[in-house]
Amino acid sequence: MAIKFEIIKESSECNARLGKLYTPHGVIETPIFMPVGTKATVKTMTPEEVEKLGAQIILGNTYHLYLKPGHKLIEEAGGLHKFMNWNKPILTDSGGFQVFSLGKLRKITEEGVEFRSHIDGSKHMITPEKSIEIQNSLGSDIMMAFDECAPYPSSWEYIKNSMERTSRWAKRCKEYHKDWDRQGIFGIVQGGMYKDLREESVKAITDLNFPGYAIGGLSVGEPLDLMCEMLDFTTPMLPKDKPRYLMGVGTPDYLFESAIRGIDMADCVLPTRIARNGTAFTSHGKLVIRNAKYSNDFGPLDPECDCYTCKNYSRAYIRHLFNVNEILGPRLATIHNLYFLIKLMENVRKAIKEDRLLEYREEFYKKFGYIN
Ligand code: GUN
Ligand code: ZN
Repeated sequence: MAIKFEIIKESSECNARLGKLYTPHGVIETPIFMPVGTKATVKTMTPEEVEKLGAQIILGNTYHLYLKPGHKLIEEAGGLHKFMNWNKPILTDSGGFQVFSLGKLRKITEEGVEFRSHIDGSKHMITPEKSIEIQNSLGSDIMMAFDECAPYPSSWEYIKNSMERTSRWAKRCKEYHKDWDRQGIFGIVQGGMYKDLREESVKAITDLNFPGYAIGGLSVGEPLDLMCEMLDFTTPMLPKDKPRYLMGVGTPDYLFESAIRGIDMADCVLPTRIARNGTAFTSHGKLVIRNAKYSNDFGPLDPECDCYTCKNYSRAYIRHLFNVNEILGPRLATIHNLYFLIKLMENVRKAIKEDRLLEYREEFYKKFGYIN
């Protein structure tokens, strides 16, 4: 079944919407946060655990899976869902971000990106066609068009060139892909922090008529206000009846601000990454578990959280696990951080339904400690 999006309700107080996104492996409720499973695993977690947390869709990465274990092997296994034992929707990023994070190891041409593997230095080329070929082998429900996420800051001239090439690449992705019932592609809008270029990008990408659109090139180190300004400008130009995915966003404040501006999906490695080094989101702000003040604190990470970790373990115990480098520490923190954001988005959806998203944001920020 091809990707289909349904709007259940539009907020009366802001641009937020409540929706349902239908994919070949099931329906997801939006706005949603998507946990990242770069190398065919949400680090430290079994898929059953990820599902129990309430995750409805996860991400995989073209670049990493192409290098290891190789997309052909995953195809031979029956696709990524089967390979990793996750039977719900999967979205794969195109490699158009990871490849560009390689710095000196890569060379961009009209054809694609030539790069050296960060693992063994071997030479490779990903073109738009190759990216879709890899994602076809992975069998993700939603594939991403191959794009360039330009660094911040970049000059207008650089971004213009890169954005126009991204549009030409998007067209090549669309032409290469065949089975739209099995897998959809989202186009990615670029244009850096330049409104005129964002507008051109939206025109070019939406002309290609994808089943969904992502906003790329944001949350790349710019201040939150600037990202909000770009979203305020860009999101309303996107077709209302298609899902909108903001790439690389995964802190509570960015998730609130993007949902309020009409974003339906977001993802980030941050919650799982900071969990592994011992930082937890709590309703009263971030908590660094190694801090000495928690050494005999027998309360949960977050007294208001009802995740498995918070129901069963204390700050003192989790701190101990981190201090002696026990694997259970990162696991328990990951469970909590993912649950925290999944629950947050559940509350955001409920608040949209009840037309009190802005009030919920104020209440959350006050407690969490954001000054707004
Ligand atoms: N992840 C975060 N930002 C981006 C982006 O601009 N493009 C892609 N492909 N992935 C991203
Ligand atoms: Zn918890």
